[in-house]
Amino acid sequence: MRWTVLRQRFKVDIDPLRVAAFIFEPVQGERGFYMAPTEFVRGLRALCDQYGILLIADEIQTGFARTGELFAMQHYDVEADLMTIAKSLAGGMPLSGVVGRADLMDAAQPGGLGGTYAGNPLAIAAACAVLDVIAEEDLPARAINLGTQLKERLASIQARLPQLAEVRGPGSMVAAGSVDQKTGAPDPVFNGASARCFEVLTVTHLMRPTAAQCRSGPGREGLLPPDATGGQDVSRAARSARQLTGKVSFDFALMHHAANRVQQQLRSQDRS
Ligand SMILES: Cc1ncc(COP(=O)(O)O)c(C=O)c1O
Repeated sequence: MRWTVLRQRFKVDIDPLRVAAFIFEPVQGERGFYMAPTEFVRGLRALCDQYGILLIADEIQTGFARTGELFAMQHYDVEADLMTIAKSLAGGMPLSGVVGRADLMDAAQPGGLGGTYAGNPLAIAAACAVLDVIAEEDLPARAINLGTQLKERLASIQARLPQLAEVRGPGSMVAAGSVDQKTGAPDPVFNGASARCFEVLTVTHLMRPTAAQCRSGPGREGLLPPDATGGQDVSRAARSARQLTGKVSFDFALMHHAANRVQQQLRSQDRS
Protein backbone atom coordinates (compact mmCIF):
# COMPACT_ATOMS: atom_id res chain seq x y z
CA MET A 1 0.00 0.00 0.00
CA ARG A 2 1.31 3.41 -0.90
CA TRP A 3 0.63 5.13 2.38
CA THR A 4 2.36 8.21 1.02
CA VAL A 5 -0.45 8.53 -1.55
CA LEU A 6 -3.09 8.47 1.16
CA ARG A 7 -1.17 10.89 3.32
CA GLN A 8 -0.82 13.15 0.29
CA ARG A 9 -4.58 13.05 -0.13
CA PHE A 10 -5.00 14.03 3.49
CA LYS A 11 -2.90 17.11 2.70
CA VAL A 12 -4.46 18.02 -0.62
CA ASP A 13 -8.01 16.63 -0.87
CA ILE A 14 -9.49 16.19 2.56
CA ASP A 15 -8.59 16.99 6.13
CA PRO A 16 -8.32 13.59 7.92
CA LEU A 17 -10.24 15.05 10.83
CA ARG A 18 -13.25 15.29 8.48
CA VAL A 19 -13.07 11.61 7.51
CA ALA A 20 -15.67 9.66 9.49
CA ALA A 21 -14.74 6.10 8.53
CA PHE A 22 -12.93 3.74 6.23
CA ILE A 23 -15.01 0.78 5.15
CA PHE A 24 -13.23 -2.13 3.53
CA GLU A 25 -13.57 -5.84 2.81
CA PRO A 26 -10.85 -8.05 4.36
CA VAL A 27 -11.25 -10.27 1.28
CA GLN A 28 -12.62 -8.67 -1.88
CA GLY A 29 -15.90 -10.49 -2.40
CA GLU A 30 -16.88 -9.26 -5.84
CA ARG A 31 -13.41 -8.78 -7.22
CA GLY A 32 -11.69 -12.14 -7.22
CA PHE A 33 -11.26 -13.07 -3.55
CA TYR A 34 -8.02 -11.18 -3.02
CA MET A 35 -7.19 -11.06 0.66
CA ALA A 36 -6.01 -7.76 2.10
CA PRO A 37 -2.35 -8.06 3.16
CA THR A 38 -1.68 -8.02 6.89
CA GLU A 39 0.49 -4.92 6.78
CA PHE A 40 -2.27 -3.08 4.89
CA VAL A 41 -4.92 -3.87 7.49
CA ARG A 42 -2.65 -3.09 10.41
CA GLY A 43 -1.51 0.12 8.68
CA LEU A 44 -5.12 1.14 8.11
CA ARG A 45 -5.87 0.51 11.79
CA ALA A 46 -2.91 2.65 12.82
CA LEU A 47 -3.98 5.45 10.48
CA CYS A 48 -7.52 5.35 11.85
CA ASP A 49 -6.21 5.50 15.41
CA GLN A 50 -3.98 8.42 14.56
CA TYR A 51 -6.82 10.56 13.20
CA GLY A 52 -9.83 9.25 15.13
CA ILE A 53 -11.32 7.63 12.01
CA LEU A 54 -13.58 4.59 12.42
CA LEU A 55 -12.50 1.35 10.77
CA ILE A 56 -15.46 -0.62 9.43
CA ALA A 57 -14.93 -4.16 8.16
CA ASP A 58 -17.51 -5.35 5.66
CA GLU A 59 -17.78 -9.03 6.63
CA ILE A 60 -20.94 -9.65 4.63
CA GLN A 61 -19.22 -12.23 2.43
CA THR A 62 -16.32 -13.20 4.66
CA GLY A 63 -18.21 -13.63 7.91
CA PHE A 64 -19.36 -16.76 9.66
CA ALA A 65 -16.54 -19.25 9.18
CA ARG A 66 -15.97 -18.95 5.45
CA THR A 67 -12.34 -17.82 5.64
CA GLY A 68 -11.37 -20.39 8.27
CA GLU A 69 -12.08 -18.02 11.18
CA LEU A 70 -15.49 -16.91 12.37
CA PHE A 71 -14.65 -13.46 10.97
CA ALA A 72 -11.91 -12.58 8.50
CA MET A 73 -10.62 -9.79 10.77
CA GLN A 74 -9.38 -12.52 13.13
CA HIS A 75 -6.59 -13.21 10.64
CA TYR A 76 -5.04 -9.81 11.32
CA ASP A 77 -4.78 -9.49 15.07
CA VAL A 78 -6.33 -6.01 14.98
CA GLU A 79 -9.96 -5.11 15.51
CA ALA A 80 -12.40 -3.09 13.46
CA ASP A 81 -14.61 -0.58 15.26
CA LEU A 82 -17.71 -1.82 13.45
CA MET A 83 -18.52 -4.83 11.29
CA THR A 84 -21.32 -5.30 8.77
CA ILE A 85 -22.75 -8.81 8.63
CA ALA A 86 -25.39 -10.57 6.51
CA LYS A 87 -25.57 -13.53 4.07
CA SER A 88 -24.39 -16.61 6.04
CA LEU A 89 -25.57 -14.97 9.25
CA ALA A 90 -29.00 -16.57 9.08
CA GLY A 91 -28.37 -19.41 6.63
CA GLY A 92 -30.48 -17.87 3.87
CA MET A 93 -33.11 -16.08 5.92
CA PRO A 94 -33.10 -12.33 5.29
CA LEU A 95 -31.06 -10.82 8.08
CA SER A 96 -28.23 -8.32 8.25
CA GLY A 97 -26.61 -6.46 11.06
CA VAL A 98 -23.99 -4.06 12.31
CA VAL A 99 -21.95 -5.05 15.34
CA GLY A 100 -19.12 -3.27 17.05
CA ARG A 101 -17.76 -1.30 19.93
CA ALA A 102 -20.37 -0.83 22.63
CA ASP A 103 -19.88 2.93 22.84
CA LEU A 104 -20.71 3.27 19.13
CA MET A 105 -23.57 0.79 19.15
CA ASP A 106 -25.10 2.40 22.22
CA ALA A 107 -24.84 5.87 20.74
CA ALA A 108 -28.15 5.47 18.89
CA GLN A 109 -31.16 6.30 21.02
CA PRO A 110 -33.80 3.60 21.56
CA GLY A 111 -35.77 3.46 18.32
CA GLY A 112 -33.05 5.43 16.55
CA LEU A 113 -32.19 2.47 14.32
CA GLY A 114 -34.88 0.76 12.34
CA GLY A 115 -35.85 -0.99 9.15
CA THR A 116 -38.77 -2.83 7.63
CA TYR A 117 -37.39 -6.23 8.57
CA ALA A 118 -35.34 -5.24 11.59
CA GLY A 119 -35.56 -7.74 14.39
CA ASN A 120 -37.52 -10.31 12.39
CA PRO A 121 -37.99 -13.11 14.97
CA LEU A 122 -37.86 -15.97 12.46
CA ALA A 123 -34.63 -14.71 10.89
CA ILE A 124 -33.11 -14.19 14.34
CA ALA A 125 -34.04 -17.73 15.37
CA ALA A 126 -32.33 -18.94 12.18
CA ALA A 127 -29.22 -16.91 13.03
CA CYS A 128 -29.09 -18.45 16.52
CA ALA A 129 -29.30 -21.91 14.93
CA VAL A 130 -26.53 -21.00 12.48
CA LEU A 131 -24.26 -19.94 15.34
CA ASP A 132 -24.98 -23.23 17.14
CA VAL A 133 -24.11 -25.24 14.02
CA ILE A 134 -20.92 -23.27 13.42
CA ALA A 135 -19.77 -24.11 16.94
CA GLU A 136 -21.04 -27.71 17.05
CA GLU A 137 -19.67 -28.70 13.64
CA ASP A 138 -16.56 -26.53 13.82
CA LEU A 139 -17.31 -24.91 10.49
CA PRO A 140 -14.17 -22.73 10.48
CA ALA A 141 -12.07 -25.92 10.39
CA ARG A 142 -14.40 -27.37 7.81
CA ALA A 143 -14.02 -24.29 5.60
CA ILE A 144 -10.24 -24.74 5.65
CA ASN A 145 -10.60 -28.42 4.79
CA LEU A 146 -13.06 -27.75 1.99
CA GLY A 147 -10.89 -24.95 0.58
CA THR A 148 -7.82 -27.18 0.68
CA GLN A 149 -9.65 -29.90 -1.25
CA LEU A 150 -10.94 -27.45 -3.84
CA LYS A 151 -7.49 -25.91 -4.27
CA GLU A 152 -5.86 -29.33 -4.63
CA ARG A 153 -8.41 -30.30 -7.28
CA LEU A 154 -7.95 -27.06 -9.15
CA ALA A 155 -4.17 -27.49 -8.94
CA SER A 156 -4.49 -30.91 -10.57
CA ILE A 157 -6.45 -29.33 -13.45
CA GLN A 158 -3.83 -26.57 -13.53
CA ALA A 159 -1.15 -29.13 -14.39
CA ARG A 160 -2.94 -29.76 -17.70
CA LEU A 161 -4.24 -26.25 -18.20
CA PRO A 162 -1.43 -23.74 -17.64
CA GLN A 163 -3.70 -20.74 -18.24
CA LEU A 164 -5.29 -21.57 -14.92
CA ALA A 165 -2.45 -19.74 -13.28
CA GLU A 166 -3.86 -18.53 -10.04
CA VAL A 167 -5.70 -20.50 -7.42
CA ARG A 168 -6.21 -18.39 -4.35
CA GLY A 169 -8.42 -17.37 -1.46
CA PRO A 170 -8.66 -18.09 2.25
CA GLY A 171 -10.71 -20.99 3.66
CA SER A 172 -13.53 -22.00 1.37
CA MET A 173 -13.47 -18.72 -0.57
CA VAL A 174 -11.64 -20.17 -3.54
CA ALA A 175 -10.99 -18.36 -6.81
CA ALA A 176 -9.33 -19.64 -9.94
CA GLY A 177 -8.04 -17.00 -12.30
CA SER A 178 -6.06 -17.08 -15.47
CA VAL A 179 -2.95 -15.48 -16.81
CA ASP A 180 -2.25 -15.01 -20.49
CA GLN A 181 0.98 -16.92 -21.06
CA LYS A 182 2.42 -14.19 -23.29
CA THR A 183 1.38 -10.97 -21.61
CA GLY A 184 1.07 -12.11 -18.01
CA ALA A 185 -2.28 -10.27 -17.84
CA PRO A 186 -5.56 -11.96 -16.90
CA ASP A 187 -7.24 -13.59 -19.88
CA PRO A 188 -10.86 -12.38 -19.84
CA VAL A 189 -12.10 -14.99 -22.30
CA PHE A 190 -10.64 -17.80 -20.28
CA ASN A 191 -11.86 -16.34 -17.01
CA GLY A 192 -15.39 -16.04 -18.31
CA ALA A 193 -15.40 -19.52 -19.79
CA SER A 194 -13.79 -21.29 -16.87
CA ALA A 195 -15.98 -19.53 -14.34
CA ARG A 196 -19.06 -20.50 -16.33
CA CYS A 197 -17.88 -24.08 -16.59
CA PHE A 198 -17.25 -24.35 -12.86
CA GLU A 199 -20.45 -22.58 -12.07
CA VAL A 200 -22.53 -25.11 -13.93
CA LEU A 201 -20.60 -28.20 -12.96
CA THR A 202 -19.16 -27.58 -9.60
CA VAL A 203 -21.95 -25.56 -8.18
CA THR A 204 -25.26 -25.66 -10.01
CA HIS A 205 -25.16 -29.35 -10.77
CA LEU A 206 -23.33 -31.10 -7.98
CA MET A 207 -23.84 -28.87 -5.01
CA ARG A 208 -27.30 -27.83 -6.09
CA PRO A 209 -29.18 -28.81 -2.96
CA THR A 210 -27.18 -26.31 -0.98
CA ALA A 211 -27.16 -22.68 -1.94
CA ALA A 212 -23.64 -22.29 -3.32
CA GLN A 213 -22.66 -19.24 -5.26
CA CYS A 214 -20.22 -18.64 -8.04
CA ARG A 215 -18.78 -15.37 -9.25
CA SER A 216 -18.06 -15.24 -12.93
CA GLY A 217 -16.62 -12.76 -15.37
CA PRO A 218 -13.16 -11.28 -15.59
CA GLY A 219 -11.75 -10.61 -12.16
CA ARG A 220 -14.89 -11.89 -10.48
CA GLU A 221 -14.22 -15.60 -10.69
CA GLY A 222 -14.66 -17.49 -7.47
CA LEU A 223 -16.47 -20.30 -5.75
CA LEU A 224 -18.47 -19.96 -2.58
CA PRO A 225 -19.55 -23.48 -1.70
CA PRO A 226 -21.50 -23.75 1.53
CA ASP A 227 -19.22 -24.77 4.37
CA ALA A 228 -21.51 -27.73 5.00
CA THR A 229 -20.46 -29.22 1.62
CA GLY A 230 -19.07 -32.72 2.02
CA GLY A 231 -15.79 -34.00 0.62
CA GLN A 232 -17.68 -36.37 -1.67
CA ASP A 233 -19.40 -33.44 -3.38
CA VAL A 234 -16.02 -31.87 -4.09
CA SER A 235 -14.68 -35.10 -5.60
CA ARG A 236 -17.74 -35.55 -7.79
CA ALA A 237 -17.60 -31.93 -8.91
CA ALA A 238 -13.92 -32.13 -9.75
CA ARG A 239 -14.40 -35.40 -11.66
CA SER A 240 -17.11 -33.85 -13.79
CA ALA A 241 -15.11 -30.68 -14.37
CA ARG A 242 -12.16 -32.79 -15.48
CA GLN A 243 -14.34 -34.85 -17.80
CA LEU A 244 -15.90 -31.79 -19.34
CA THR A 245 -12.65 -29.89 -19.81
CA GLY A 246 -11.04 -33.05 -21.22
CA LYS A 247 -13.90 -33.71 -23.61
CA VAL A 248 -13.78 -30.30 -25.22
CA SER A 249 -9.97 -30.05 -25.38
CA PHE A 250 -10.00 -26.82 -23.46
CA ASP A 251 -11.66 -24.99 -26.29
CA PHE A 252 -13.19 -22.02 -24.57
CA ALA A 253 -16.11 -21.56 -26.90
CA LEU A 254 -16.93 -25.22 -26.56
CA MET A 255 -16.59 -25.03 -22.83
CA HIS A 256 -19.23 -22.32 -22.83
CA HIS A 257 -21.40 -24.37 -25.12
CA ALA A 258 -21.02 -27.55 -23.10
CA ALA A 259 -21.70 -25.71 -19.87
CA ASN A 260 -24.86 -24.21 -21.33
CA ARG A 261 -26.03 -27.62 -22.48
CA VAL A 262 -25.54 -29.11 -19.04
CA GLN A 263 -27.50 -26.25 -17.57
CA GLN A 264 -30.33 -26.70 -20.07
CA GLN A 265 -30.48 -30.39 -19.23
CA LEU A 266 -30.63 -29.58 -15.55
CA ARG A 267 -33.44 -27.11 -16.12
CA SER A 268 -35.45 -29.64 -18.11
CA GLN A 269 -34.81 -32.28 -15.39
CA ASP A 270 -36.05 -29.78 -12.81
CA ARG A 271 -39.21 -29.12 -14.84
CA SER A 272 -40.04 -32.80 -15.35
C1 LIG B 1 -19.30 -7.63 0.52
C2 LIG B 1 -20.70 -7.11 0.40
N1 LIG B 1 -21.04 -6.00 1.07
C3 LIG B 1 -22.31 -5.52 1.01
C4 LIG B 1 -23.28 -6.15 0.27
C5 LIG B 1 -24.67 -5.60 0.26
O1 LIG B 1 -25.41 -6.32 1.17
P1 LIG B 1 -27.00 -6.13 1.26
O2 LIG B 1 -27.57 -6.72 0.02
O3 LIG B 1 -27.37 -6.87 2.49
O4 LIG B 1 -27.24 -4.67 1.35
C6 LIG B 1 -22.97 -7.27 -0.45
C7 LIG B 1 -24.00 -7.96 -1.24
O5 LIG B 1 -23.77 -8.84 -2.01
C8 LIG B 1 -21.66 -7.79 -0.39
O6 LIG B 1 -21.29 -8.89 -1.05
